Order: sequence, then C-alpha cells, then structure tokens
Amino acid sequence: MGVPLIGVVGCGRVGVSAALQIALKGLGDIVLLDIVQGLPQGEALDLSHMASILGLDVEITGSNDYRDMAGADLVVITAGVVRRADMTRMDLLQKNSAIVSDVSEKVKEYAPSSRVIVVTNPLDVMTYVALKKTGFERERVVGFSGLLDFGRFRYLVARELGVSRSSIVGPIIGEHGDSMVLLPRLTHVLGKPLTSLLPKEKIAELVEKTRKAGAEVISLKGWSASHAPGAGVSLMAEAILRDTNAVIPSSIYLRGEYGVDGVCSVVPVVLGSSGVKRVIVLDLDDSERREFLRSVEVVRQAQQAVDKLLH
Ligand code: LAC
Repeated sequence: MGVPLIGVVGCGRVGVSAALQIALKGLGDIVLLDIVQGLPQGEALDLSHMASILGLDVEITGSNDYRDMAGADLVVITAGVVRRADMTRMDLLQKNSAIVSDVSEKVKEYAPSSRVIVVTNPLDVMTYVALKKTGFERERVVGFSGLLDFGRFRYLVARELGVSRSSIVGPIIGEHGDSMVLLPRLTHVLGKPLTSLLPKEKIAELVEKTRKAGAEVISLKGWSASHAPGAGVSLMAEAILRDTNAVIPSSIYLRGEYGVDGVCSVVPVVLGSSGVKRVIVLDLDDSERREFLRSVEVVRQAQQAVDKLLH
C-alpha cells in the first residue's frame, strides 16, 4: 500500500487545523478542497512551508476541483457554515445539509473506497446525510465529536481533582449538542469512578460547563473552536489509517445497538482500517438509558426534517 491520501473538504479554521494535525502525525499526503478560489491552494502552501521547516516530507496540495481527491483513502468533511454564539448547532441544519449532501455525492464519485469522518454541524445529522448520500456502508462513515466533548469534560475534571488529564478515562454518548450524555458513573480515575471522587453537585456543574463549552469558546474568541476539533479529528484519522483499533466515541448510524435503529448518535466504537470494526454497548443504568434515548430522539427528529429537505 502506497502513501495514504487524505482529502480535507472545507478550508475553514477546523479543516485547516485538522490538516495541520494530520500532517504533523505524518498520516499521509493531504489534498485540501474548498469552493473559494485560492484558499485551499494558499493554506496548502503555508502548511507545506511548515512541513518543510519541520523536515516533514508530506505532500500537501490545495484544489477547487474534487477530481484532485481521486482515490482518497480518507475524507474529512468540515465544509459548512459555522454558528454564532447566539445559535445552536441545529440552527445550521438547512444550510449545512445541502452543503454536506453535495460534498458527499462528490466523495461517492471521486473517492468511492474512502472512509469518511464528518465534522460539520449539526454533527450527528450531517453524519446521517453523508451516510445516505455516499451510499457507503455505515462502518465507513463516522462523525467526530465524542473526543471533543469528553476532552472538554476531562479538562474540567482534571483541574478539579488535580490529576493528569490522561488519567481520566470514560465514555460519552448521545448527540453532539445540549442533550449530550456524560457518564460520571462510568468515568474512572485510576479505577475509581468519578461519582466516588466528587460530590453530585460538582459533577453536575462540570457536565453543564462541558455542554456549554463550544458556545463559551465562540463567545470569547468570536468564532468556533478549531484547535481542539483538529486534534480530535487527527486521532480518529490515525486510528483508521494506522489500524490501531482505538476505542473512540464516534457518531455512527445505529442498527439496533442500545435499542436504537436508524439514528446517528455518539457511542464508543473500535476504529481501524475498515472504519468502525465494532460498536461497544455500555451497561447503562435506567437513568442513563433514558437520557440517551432522549438525546437520540432529538437527532431522529432532525433526521426526519433533513429527509424532507433533501427529497
Ligand atoms: C464545538 C463545535 C465543533 O463544539 O461543535 O466547538
């Protein structure tokens, strides 16, 4: 197998951050794509100069022509409009479903064997759109958000407990949105559940802060997060391109797992060369299951709205 080719569609801050992190990991050659003339070419040239400074012989090109991602092994979809602080991710549904639908049809045409990581918001519904419009099997189309939301939770918990961030391990499930489901009972610090380390009220406060972290970043710097998403996308890309079997919370089209059928939602999955190798079904208690199913319904309704928009 030659050097993998990674297509990054959308040269906004998130797309370029993802390309940068992928380049630093040496995961393969990169082609940046965008509709804006000159933007992908300029970002690619800047990133190529960065690679040269670091002595990385990664080929990074930019194009406005999807034919230049022909045969890509992995495609990262970040194209779409981003939200303002006063908007929810779901407010982007109409505009971004049209964009992701168009991009997905190009992926189907020019990179028919690729695995796809969706980043565009509203994430779970855009993962559904990419799945439907590429026509790929569900294992090859995953949404990125779990690493972002859990990473934000872990940042807050580590600061509260005074432990290293990598010592905090746990799942996250449900929508990439206000109904996301953190699972403190299943989040462990060196084998001790978070629920035995912090009072309920403090945990609830950290969970709420995590839900609002995306909007907080926007309200402070004026636009969406990009460094954190770029880092998370590169970890998913690494799992797929290096076949690491990493267990990563990812949005996937559920087919009966957790008692859910036909909805994209974040659950822990084993990621490797074929995409999703296995869906991990957690032992949820009644309260966690109810919260998850409520989150699933938010996405199911948005999927039904998208079905009407795209037909
Ligand atoms: C956020 C965007 C990526 O949570 O949804 O920052």
